[in-house]
This record gives sequence, C-alpha cells and structure tokens, in this order.
Amino acid sequence: MELKKVLMSRKSCRAYKDLAVEAEKLEAVVTSASLAPLGVPRMGKPHLTIVTNKEMLKTLGYQAGPERDSIYGAPALIIVSCPESYPGIAEMNAACVVEMMSLTATDLGLGNIYLYGVCAQLQKNEALQKELGIPENMKPLSALALGYGEEPVAECKAFEKVLEENYIG
Ligand SMILES: Cc1cc2nc3c(=O)[nH]c(=O)nc-3n(C[C@H](O)[C@H](O)[C@H](O)COP(=O)(O)O)c2cc1C
Repeated sequence: MELKKVLMSRKSCRAYKDLAVEAEKLEAVVTSASLAPLGVPRMGKPHLTIVTNKEMLKTLGYQAGPERDSIYGAPALIIVSCPESYPGIAEMNAACVVEMMSLTATDLGLGNIYLYGVCAQLQKNEALQKELGIPENMKPLSALALGYGEEPVAECKAFEKVLEENYIG
C-alpha cells in the first residue's frame, strides 16, 4: 500500500474474527518493530512478547474482571516491555515500536489497536509477567492487538489536520 493510504486506513479495531494471523504476517509485523527509532538504546532495547495462545490471551484480556475483554478478542497480542532505567524515554520507545507495528499490520490488511490498559493490569501481576518470560528488569508498557477485523481494513480517514498548530516563522 502507498504510505498515505496506510496512514488513512489505520484505525483502532475493537472486534475481531476468530481467525489466526498467518505466521508470515505476524513475523513481518514483529520484524518491523526493529525499524522503530529508539531513545538511549544503550539502556537496553525493548523486548517483545508475542502471544497467540488462546488461554493466555483470555488470561490477559480478562485481568480486570469477567465483564470486559481488554484485548477485544484479538487472536494475537504483542506486548512491548522496556527497561525501567529511563522513565519517559521507555514509554516513548514503546510507543514508537507499537506505532511501527500498527502501520505494518494495517498495510498487511490486519485490524489492530494500540493498548495500554492490558499492560497497566499486567504491571500489577509479577507472576504473570514471569509466566510470559518478560525479563525481570523490564516493564510491560504498551501492546498491539491484531487480527482480522470484523470490518476489513479500508481508507476511513480524511487526510486533514485535527491538531492545533502554531508556526513560528
Ligand atoms: C498510548 C495509547 C494507549 C491506548 N490504550 C488503549 C486501551 O487501553 N484500550 C483501548 O480500547 N484503546 C486504547 N488506545 C486506542 C485509542 O483509544 C485510539 O487510538 C483513539 O481513540 C483514536 O482512534 P483511532 O486509533 O481509531 O484513530 C490507546 C491509544 C494510545 C495511543
């Protein structure tokens, strides 16, 4: 897809088909994470946890209670964890990585959504972090849920400005 089309097609997907993501597509999304810009990479690079196991997805999605699945039934979840030594930079690095993967997923026709909530819950559960193999010095900061959405990926946004601007000429 042309870049502009990808940008106009990316939107949060909150309803997924019960269809697995093909291994090659998942691999392409994960690989694109390595293209993200990183601040202070010497502090340690982000760590990715790729979850496709249905039981684990359920455990993660319903951490806050049985009323609501915080990952919206997505068949894959990529958790981005970063070293805690530079707060602020760590969160920004996680965001860059997730956004890179989100655009790649969109380009591949996969619905996706940036998620913080699932990580906020996971931060409180050290045993689950251990079960997921998240390194001890790392904090799960952001995640990308992805899969085939109930709605296909399509251009849905106008290429228009919605943010306030101030040019200093
Ligand atoms: C840092 C960040 C955290 C987010 N966390 C959540 C979340 O936990 N749950 C959720 O449903 N959406 C979450 N979102 C998605 C936003 O709600 C969504 O991007 C926003 O409403 C704009 O919609 P769009 O993505 O369709 O353009 C998050 C987005 C960002 C950038």
